[in-house]
Amino acid sequence: MKSLIIANWKCNPSTLAEAKELFNKVKKTDAIICAPFIYLPGLKAKNLCAQNCFWEEKGPYTGEISPKMLKDLGVEYVIIGHSERRNCFKETDEIVNKKLKAVLNAELIPILCIGEKKGEDANQVIENQLKCDLDGISEEEQEKIIVAYEPVWAIGTGDFCEPVKAVETLKFIKSKVKNKVLYGGSVTSKISKDYIDTGFDGLLVGGASLKADEFINIIKNV
Ligand code: PGA
Repeated sequence: MKSLIIANWKCNPSTLAEAKELFNKVKKTDAIICAPFIYLPGLKAKNLCAQNCFWEEKGPYTGEISPKMLKDLGVEYVIIGHSERRNCFKETDEIVNKKLKAVLNAELIPILCIGEKKGEDANQVIENQLKCDLDGISEEEQEKIIVAYEPVWAIGTGDFCEPVKAVETLKFIKSKVKNKVLYGGSVTSKISKDYIDTGFDGLLVGGASLKADEFINIIKNV
């Protein structure tokens, strides 16, 4: 099965011109590109992903973007519950659950991020996140979700989770849900293949996705 490679640009780059330049270098790959909201219409591509969204369709919610708006734009995927949203923006599992339901309802594919902080028990945290985040979502709907295992301590630190260790958590996740599971957290081209070889269905790449050559090498190596 083909690996899913996702580029999470986060709040980068700082101009549309730079975003287009980066996009033009990587657009021949099958990678899914998660760009900031305002760049999405300018990138006109398949495989576009938003990094977040609101749970209501429309209404008096200043500053929010709804799943329906994203669908209308041709976006296919939405990241939900990234640890930066959980931590910087205080998104709770209850919020993540509402967003997941709204995204599925709009027929977009959610990429649900889960993972433990340093010192926490990975299985315990993940079990709880999956239980709360997927609450009330039918099994059929649940299967449409892509799960990304991203240990919080590995994100943006260069301190990736060794594949031999990550695979233990992968097995635990697979024992709980039937979804595709990606790994994310300081992925580079040196290590990308090892995650796929251990059984991950793909990768969620942050920092390295901003360097076109490195990102293309990540894809080539898997
Ligand atoms: P990173 O980010 O590759 O820079 O660690 C991954 C992510 O946050 O999705």
